[in-house]
Amino acid sequence: MANPVLARAGRGWLEELRARGSELARRLSWPTTQEEEWRRTSLAGLKLEALEAGAAGLLAAPVGGNGKGGTPHEPEGRPQPPEGHLAEGQAGLVRFHGSACTGLALAEEWRRKGVLLAALDGEVPGAVAALMDSGLQRADNRIAAWHLGSLSHGALLYVPEGVELAGTVTVDLEEQAAGASFPHLAVVLGRGARAVVAQRLAGGGGLVNAGLDAQLGDGAALELYQLQDLGLGSLFFSHAYAALGRDASLRSLEAHLGSRLAKTRMDCSLEGPGAESYLNGAYLAGAGQHMDLRTVQRHRSPKATSRALYKGAVKDSGRTVYQGLIEVSPGASGTDAYLSNKNLILNDGARADSIPSLRIDNNDVRCSHGSTTGRISPEELFYLGSRGLSPDEARAMLVLGYFEELLARAPFAEAALAGVAGRLAAGCAVEGEGRWLPVAEADAFRQGGDSIAVAVECDGRTLAVFRLGEQYFALDDTCSHEYSRLSEGEILDGEVYCPKHGSRFDLRTGEVRGLPATQPVNAYRVKEEEGKVWVLWDR
Ligand code: FES
Repeated sequence: MANPVLARAGRGWLEELRARGSELARRLSWPTTQEEEWRRTSLAGLKLEALEAGAAGLLAAPVGGNGKGGTPHEPEGRPQPPEGHLAEGQAGLVRFHGSACTGLALAEEWRRKGVLLAALDGEVPGAVAALMDSGLQRADNRIAAWHLGSLSHGALLYVPEGVELAGTVTVDLEEQAAGASFPHLAVVLGRGARAVVAQRLAGGGGLVNAGLDAQLGDGAALELYQLQDLGLGSLFFSHAYAALGRDASLRSLEAHLGSRLAKTRMDCSLEGPGAESYLNGAYLAGAGQHMDLRTVQRHRSPKATSRALYKGAVKDSGRTVYQGLIEVSPGASGTDAYLSNKNLILNDGARADSIPSLRIDNNDVRCSHGSTTGRISPEELFYLGSRGLSPDEARAMLVLGYFEELLARAPFAEAALAGVAGRLAAGCAVEGEGRWLPVAEADAFRQGGDSIAVAVECDGRTLAVFRLGEQYFALDDTCSHEYSRLSEGEILDGEVYCPKHGSRFDLRTGEVRGLPATQPVNAYRVKEEEGKVWVLWDR
């Protein structure tokens, strides 16, 4: 079916876009921690200039996509990508390995109705070119401009007015192990059109600077799923933008599991009255990972509704940051907006920051936000332990359940949940140190004076736990000289005296401070939390 909207932008549009993006990037500076949005993510030491120079050298090569499957009028003499095989429930797919398109398919039924699914490779409909051109106007930092200036590959989906695409369009991006990559996804839905798009981003090891633009006409509906499961050496930047017309609806879910640094922005602009957006996110950061995710619910017209729910978990030395903004323009009366961020900290050393904020220029609105940060409750661990699960199994089950309410709805649910389980497989313990085990009620240390010792059982071994004022210490309970229990010894000046022959042991280190013992005893870290005393068990 010929579609009058599909005025081609001309073969030179991409080169022109890249040239303008590069020019803009040269004029902008790298974001710094002086800017609020980047305050918690430093680019220092990432050598982005070198990566930028390397990427510029690649621009002499043709852009990666080489196919136009689904295009009503194929250009002459151009290489076609391999046909992809559609699985049950798939309406279409685009697959890339690096910047090379390795699979492209669109069900014939949708092709006949004017749906267009293609690689971004030099010729696109005018509506897509205009959408990406507007991205250049919005680029407010060098990272975003750099993406457009170096755009390496990507896909576009166009669904004409009134076409309700049944099935999922899958965009599968397998990144190469090194170098820089700049993929882009563009989605344009005509008035009343519907589509479900699932993008998976995996592989990698270098830099991935991605972009996504979506334009939803009046009454259009888009479900958008993005899974970022890049290699743990990757740097990941992403700018996503969606504009919604009157009564349009966006339901999105982004899941971040991979990369060592992820800095993303999901910006949803409710342009038409009655528009609705539901932004969801799930993220899990472990050792050496830093994730900084931002959402913007931008209300620009009356009676629009938006919700954001982002849930994260962080373990080991990982760090996560969530920044959520609800922005209401003066004319957006009747706005109904809420954002919620929940974080689960799995052990000491991990950190999660939550920064929800409101910027409201209209009095007739209902806007609020909520944020919680917590830990897995010892009671839940105890209950699951009583059902035969080990502490690590219990933690993994609780974390999977925490994420499942979000991830189970996504087309890539199986892969995403497997990814979460994989990250947890090494246990929810502090990396390289062990796992915290509850050994006693804190009340057991509240009797007596300022110093007290209690013998406790920890994973089959008896420990002596000492409280001096507000500080706790733990040593093996058995003296290293002969058999005697240190929990029955006298405590003085940071040492415990063995009750049998008087050897002294340092409470902090377990080292011998006085004969006849010559061998130290093991020392352990202790903390009091949620009414219990915990020992960091590393045996
Ligand atoms: S048993 Fe402790 S010093 Fe001899």
